[in-house]
Amino acid sequence: MSDREVESPHDRFAGSVGSVMAEQVVDTRGRPVRDLRISVTDRCNFRCTYCMPKEIFNRDYEFLARDLLLSFSEIERIARVFVELGVRKIRLTGGEPLLRRGIEDLVARLAAIEGVDDLTLTTNGALLARKARSLAEAGLDRVTVSLDSLDDATFQAMNDVGFPVSGVLEGIDAAAEAGLVPIKINMVVKRGVNEDSIVPMAEYFRGTGHIVRFIEFMDVGTTNGWRLDDVVPAAEVIRRIDEVFPLEAIPPNYPGEVARRFRYRDGAGEIGVIASVTQPFCGGCTRARISAEGMLYTCLFASKGTDLRSLVRDGVTDEELADVVSGVWQARSDRYSEIRSEATSGLVRVEMSYIGG
Ligand code: GTP
Ligand code: 5AD
Ligand code: SF4
Ligand code: SF4
Repeated sequence: MSDREVESPHDRFAGSVGSVMAEQVVDTRGRPVRDLRISVTDRCNFRCTYCMPKEIFNRDYEFLARDLLLSFSEIERIARVFVELGVRKIRLTGGEPLLRRGIEDLVARLAAIEGVDDLTLTTNGALLARKARSLAEAGLDRVTVSLDSLDDATFQAMNDVGFPVSGVLEGIDAAAEAGLVPIKINMVVKRGVNEDSIVPMAEYFRGTGHIVRFIEFMDVGTTNGWRLDDVVPAAEVIRRIDEVFPLEAIPPNYPGEVARRFRYRDGAGEIGVIASVTQPFCGGCTRARISAEGMLYTCLFASKGTDLRSLVRDGVTDEELADVVSGVWQARSDRYSEIRSEATSGLVRVEMSYIGG
């Protein structure tokens, strides 16, 4: 083997390097930073029982005050630093990101950053019918919409604010019309709650070009009452769909893809499963997360973050900011889903609505 052929930790991820070449930082397990997930608000107009249970997220709950949120210029600045360090994909999350006033302005700022190959957003869809066109015009590439059932009683019990399925479907249609494709539809599956919706969901979206992803209910945060018994393993989801609509596995779109992909043998499109509990995917995890108040987390299950907002408000230079971020990334050893166990069960973890999924 010549020097050039020696396998570097980057090789596993080499395929997706974009146009702007920067100094690649890798963590202690050889993983580069490729995806940046930015939460723009910790508020949501839903109260999904697995994410923001009403007993906790009620009138007394203190959401972040406005001046604590990163401004759009602060987000843009931080995002530019991450792109310099190797990020190619940016996803806006919440809470519900469409609740943040002027979100299109932020989309436009991020779309203008050279090196961002994929700019997307995860939404509950409630405001999407109203906003799809302006988001697309601002430069958003695509959207992912959460929808846990096509049955109104089930969906309303899960979102816990009585929001109808039809409202989300209208949002999905508007997004398709605006060209925010391919649209992905995230369904969190809970045993005994919406497992009957698995096959209808697959059936409804077959042939539409939209990609449904079935997500194993995860133990994010500490308020959602997670129990292993509530998890429907991805293998079971696949088996149930395959019995009705035969499936075959297909390879990932990009290294470290979260969802495992399957296509319908009759050519009616594809689905995905996100098996964070039964088949963890930490080995390929290239995701950094920023909370709405500017804390940097290197894992969805983190209990500690790094305060970037203070740095930015204290007047650091871009170089100093980049040094801090690379330092944090280089020290990273997270692999929570692989070691999910007694070792981690006592930790206070940040909530999904705060870190954005
Ligand atoms: P694509 O860019 O379309 O491939 O999306 P994605 O799968 O990266 O992002 P999305 O926000 O749609 O993620 C779907 C779900 O997977 C999220 O709701 C999370 O629950 C889960 N997920 C995403 N990233 C991670 C991760 O790094 N670790 C774990 N454990 N779960 C994750
Ligand atoms: N387990 C799995 N997925 C979750 N989501 C929110 N909470 C959980 C959880 N505990 C999903 C939402 C949304 C995405 C951002 O995360 O449904 O699709
Ligand atoms: Fe809101 Fe999404 Fe959490 Fe549901 S899962 S409460 S829509 S942030
Ligand atoms: Fe990445 Fe942490 Fe999820 Fe593992 S558990 S895939 S390290 S975010």
